[in-house]
Order: sequence, then structure tokens, then C-alpha cells
Amino acid sequence: LHVIHIAAEMAPVAKVGGLGDVVTGLGKALQQRGHLVEVILPKYDCMQYELIKDLRVLDVVIESFFDGQLFENRIWTGTVEGLPVYFIEPHHPGNFFWRGQFYGERDDFKRFSFFSRAALELILQAGKKPDIIHCHDWQTAFVAPLYWDLYAPKGLNSARICFTCHNFEYQGTAPAGELGSCGLDVHHLNRPDRMQDNSSHDRVNPIKGAIVFSNIVTTVSPTYAQEVRTAEGGKGLHSTLNTYARKFVGVLNGIDTDAWNPASDTFLKVQYSAFDIDGKAQNKEALKRKLGLSSADVRQPLVGCITRLVPQKGVHLIRHALYRTLELGGQFVLLGSSPVPHIQREFEDIANQFQNHEHARLLLKYDESLSRLIYAASDMLIIPSIFEPCGLTQMIAMRYGTIPIARKTGGLNDSVFDVDDDSVPEEFRNGFTFFSADEQGFNNALERAFSYYRNNGEFWQQLVEKVMKMDFSWNSSAATYEELYEKAVSRARAANR
Ligand code: ADP
Ligand code: GLC
Repeated sequence: LHVIHIAAEMAPVAKVGGLGDVVTGLGKALQQRGHLVEVILPKYDCMQYELIKDLRVLDVVIESFFDGQLFENRIWTGTVEGLPVYFIEPHHPGNFFWRGQFYGERDDFKRFSFFSRAALELILQAGKKPDIIHCHDWQTAFVAPLYWDLYAPKGLNSARICFTCHNFEYQGTAPAGELGSCGLDVHHLNRPDRMQDNSSHDRVNPIKGAIVFSNIVTTVSPTYAQEVRTAEGGKGLHSTLNTYARKFVGVLNGIDTDAWNPASDTFLKVQYSAFDIDGKAQNKEALKRKLGLSSADVRQPLVGCITRLVPQKGVHLIRHALYRTLELGGQFVLLGSSPVPHIQREFEDIANQFQNHEHARLLLKYDESLSRLIYAASDMLIIPSIFEPCGLTQMIAMRYGTIPIARKTGGLNDSVFDVDDDSVPEEFRNGFTFFSADEQGFNNALERAFSYYRNNGEFWQQLVEKVMKMDFSWNSSAATYEELYEKAVSRARAANR
């Protein structure tokens, strides 16, 4: 199959969170299964250019429509993690991707509806005939209605559209009139059975449009797929998802086990594996030294947390975890940053209070190399999310022999199983879980983890080895995507016959 991903993020060059990891990880896994996989990204100024191989500008100019006129786009190409990527650089006075950040701009709706249309124009003008165009999240959700309304009639009709929603909290709604900028017909689309937002009728909802217009709709775990079909979990889209339940499925993400591998990770002090875990303790020692934490007690449990600090992630429980860990005699390291100013300020205050503390450090920034050392150094990683579509940090943690303490929600429910839960086969039990999103629920899981760690060293050692050997790779989920793609393609062929 020929698969083209159109996305706003791609790890490691343009990553804000898990979406970037998924585009690269799924893309590589499908490539390894023999498919032709390409990716189309905006050409952001703030990308990590040094990680793009053979970057060059192509000798073509792609014209795309916006706000009633045609704009030229320069097209760059390069390789990221072995995947061929096209980068779109618009010549538009809005300098759409020259903002020093990926998202969070006032005109994000314009920036990404422009990009979605330019990406389709690139596919059309380059004469590509993909079998699948796979778009992700609201930023490229426009691709689905654009494709069927404007591009399939122009002859770009070989493809089937797959849309993956990584988080239904972010729907990108806007006043209906804004849709016209990228050439979509507002009157035709702003209807209850198309893109009209289910609660504000004068707004359009790109995610809803992608659900209606795509051939395949996925989200990133089976449990989350169930949750979003309920009124509490669906953020206003549950009725739409129930209408289209036939084509909607939850596929658990994997992680890129080459990119996340303690045996080859050069950001660690010492590499290690499930068969030789001694190096883990040396990384713990190295992190403590780097951060100025006390190393007097090598058996003092180190609790890590690596996250975007947004309400979804259970910020009140993260804050509580810091204090509870210290009360229990452990050490705590947080690596996180927040796009929400009052949360960032609140954590900056706490970070200041702890800047010279012997047992806790809060690092309020995005830093991938440091994240790797923290995954390796920690004994436990907390993920107390209020909701979590999939979550990758629990899987990365386990790959590095760090035991997750997670709330049973979304993808955490599908990947973390409590060591004390007799209803789960022993071979799957890999962490500590809790249900209620309050301090008591969290305390119970943390205290049990501390108790096993301190009183049953042998059990803990075996648990560490066991989770490191678990398979969180993309293998089985990439096979599921392949099956979904193939079914959609063969349905299309049958229909055209
Ligand atoms: P989300 O996409 O909701 O943020 P995920 O768990 O799916 O959550 O993915 C988070 C990804 O971002 C992981 O790869 C994690 O290591 C990384 N990450 C989160 N915060 C930071 C940070 N402050 N520094 C470095 N990496 C981070
Ligand atoms: C979103 C979700 C996260 C998921 C990631 C990748 O950011 O919040 O749970 O793991 O996308 O699919």
C-alpha cells in the first residue's frame, strides 16, 4: 500500500507530545511491513533541522487556494528516521509556520486549514496516487471534507481517508464563516449531519467533519474509544461517534522500540537491558548528581513524572504526589511544562521552593534528553490522568524498567495492570493502578508500590525485568492499521468495479 500521513507533528523533529511519536512510530512500522509511507508536514521555523537528513528544496512550486486567491508553496524534502517527508513552506503574508512555536497561535484554524489544503494540492500536483491518506487530530481533519468535496472530483480519487483522533478535548471549532478560507462551502458543510458543532450551531467542528467524511476513524485505545461514545467522555461528539460506530475503532498505540531503547540510548550514563539491569542504578546515581539530590541512600525510591502540565494529566494529583512521596521518604523528579499560564506559574512557585531540596526537583521545561535519563533513573513513574486517550509515558517507562503508577482510564486501562489484581493473568500484571481521581486513590497505589519496593526486593527486581521484556512495540497495532487500510481499499475497489 501507498500511505501518506498528513500531520502537524512528527518526532523527533517537530514534537509537542505523543502525536509526534505516533506519526513516526506507526509510519516506520508500516514501512517495515513493506508499505510505501510518506509524511507531509508544515515547514516550521522551530523544527530540529539537524535531525532531518538530505533536506533540500524541490524544483517545483505548488499553488494552493486560500481566502479567494492562489498562494505559492515551496516544497522541501528530506528523511526523518528513515521516512521520506515533504515540508510545505507557504509564501503567505501571514507567515503561518514562522512563529517560533508549533501551536497556540490565534490563527491556528487558518494556519492548519491552509496546510491541509496545500498538502492535498501537493499530492494532486505531484501525481501521487496513494491508497490511504491518513490525517491526525483537528489540525489536519480538514483533509477529509476537502478530499471528498474538492479533490476526488479533480481525479485524486484513488485514496481512502483514515482519520485518527488522539484527543477529543481538542476539536478546533471556529465560527462557521472561517471554513470558507480554505475553499470549503460553508452552506453545504455547516449542517447538523456534517461539520456543524453539536453544541454551538454557528460554529464548525473539524473533528466532526473528519468523523463524517473519513472512511476509517480511529482513536488511540479501545477503552478510550468506549469512553468517548458516552455523554461524559465524548466532549460533545458522542452522538456523532455513535452514528458512525461502524467505522470507528480504538487501536492501542505502540512505541518506537528502536527510538526508546535503554540498551542503545546515548543520553543515558550507562546503557542496560532486561538481561543486565545493573546500569539502571548507575543512571539513578547520575541523575541525582546532575540535579543535586541526595545520594546518601541508594535504596530510597525515586518517583518520576514526565508530562505536559494540563488538567487532563491530573495536575492536582501530580502536586499531591510530590508531597506524599516526600512524606513517605522517597525522592521526586518532575519534568513538565504547561501551555496554561496559571498552571505554569503555580508549578514555578513550587519549583522555586524546592530548588535546593535534597529529595525533590521540578524542571519546568521540555527536554527530551533529560526525559530519557529520568525514564532510566526512576524506580516508578506516576501517570494520574483524569482521562488519557492512550498515553505513551507508561510504555516508555516500562521499556526502561520503571514501574508505572497509573489511573485506570483510557489507554492506561489497556496497558497498566495492577500487580495485586487477581482478575488479570499474572503475566500481564505490570504496575500499580487506582480508579478514583482523588488523593486517597492515588495514595493507595503509591503506598503499595513503596511497600513492595522496600520490603520485597526480589519481587521488585523480577517486576522490573518482566516489564522490560513486555512488547509495547508497534508490531501488533501496525498490523491492525494495515488490516483497516486493506479493508477500506478493497471495499473501494469492489464499489468501482
Ligand atoms: P500527550 O501526547 O498527551 O502529551 P503521551 O503520553 O502520549 O501524552 O506522550 C507524551 C510524549 O511527550 C512522551 O514521548 C513524553 O516522553 C514526552 N514529553 C512530555 N513532556 C515532556 C517534557 N517536559 N520533556 C520531554 N519530553 C516530554
Ligand atoms: C494525545 C493523547 C495521548 C496519546 C497521544 C498519542 O496527545 O493525549 O494520550 O498517547 O495523543 O496518540
